[in-house]
Amino acid sequence: MDTDSETPRHDTDEWPHVDDGPAPDDGPRRDDHPNPAGPGDGPDADGDPTPPSDGPTPPPELSPRIAEITAKAEKLAAKKLQDDGDKAPDFTGGPIDPRGRPLAIGVDVGGSGIKAAAVDLTTGELVSLRHRVPTPQPSAPAAVIASIARMIRKIEREVVLSPDAPVGVGFPAVVIDGVTKSAANVDPGWLDFDSDAAMERVLGRPVHLVNDADAAGVAEMRFGVGVGRMGTVFLITLGTGTGSALFYNGMLVPNLELGHMEIRGRDAERRSAAAARTRRGLSWKAWSADLDEHLLAIERLFSPQLFIIGGGVSKRADQFIPRLTVRAEVIPAALRNDAGIVGAAMAAAETERTTG
Ligand code: BGC
Repeated sequence: MDTDSETPRHDTDEWPHVDDGPAPDDGPRRDDHPNPAGPGDGPDADGDPTPPSDGPTPPPELSPRIAEITAKAEKLAAKKLQDDGDKAPDFTGGPIDPRGRPLAIGVDVGGSGIKAAAVDLTTGELVSLRHRVPTPQPSAPAAVIASIARMIRKIEREVVLSPDAPVGVGFPAVVIDGVTKSAANVDPGWLDFDSDAAMERVLGRPVHLVNDADAAGVAEMRFGVGVGRMGTVFLITLGTGTGSALFYNGMLVPNLELGHMEIRGRDAERRSAAAARTRRGLSWKAWSADLDEHLLAIERLFSPQLFIIGGGVSKRADQFIPRLTVRAEVIPAALRNDAGIVGAAMAAAETERTTG
């Protein structure tokens, strides 16, 4: 989710197909790693597992597509840059020692900016500087992964992190088992791409991708205005696109893409996203009416108690929330620009705990 900017990068109404079929060249996933030792080391003809061999397990082979992209990302990440456009001040001094506090790195990939920081998982506080670099254009996987790698290297100088501290990446796409399955506002190179595997290879840490709105929603429900809110709650993020996260009694229903529900024959986010207001040069009043239409359509289908509105535009909540006519309560998000980072870090730690 891009919360800092409302500028769209692609001006297309099309939402690429979500293809649930196997990706042709996505290579191994966590649960279907090829047998690195080759024939003879897998189950035998009777299906009995072969006893484990000694020595460290070599990393799983990568598909040609992932191998090519990760090699390119590593090369780009190693390049010395005069100025990477990072908004964080220069870091001086030694790294902060978290003294046993559980930490993860959170990354929020948006249409115009990528943000990252180390997060204290118990309090939701950022414990490193908050980095923000412009999203590479085009936002192809190798370039984006390289930008993330560079930011993480800086964070590793600022905070003492254990080598297995995971990285959570909030990404503006449907994410299933670490594979990005849509690419509405990012480069089509992300379609059906095993992003977890590629990033793990380059970053050298466990990585878990999650939809950006889901990440922001998780953070708001845990540390923000959603704390203790039961029933049906939506977090709607308004940025380059419109993201949606649905919670029932605090439980997330992931990958709900209500930005792409059809209103007036087109993707609803084409009118309700924050970028739609600036792109179309609309007044707050005119845009509020478009947003209202989208929220009313959601309300008709889900009857939520509460809409939490996130994204950079939520700091101008007074300009549009009073104009909305939905029956549900509507409040701005509390964590604003940090929600995506915090939620991604939390989601990664949770996935790592449950699946490893
Ligand atoms: C994407 C969603 C994302 C939202 C906000 C939409 O275009 O399809 O996955 O959550 O933008 O970034």
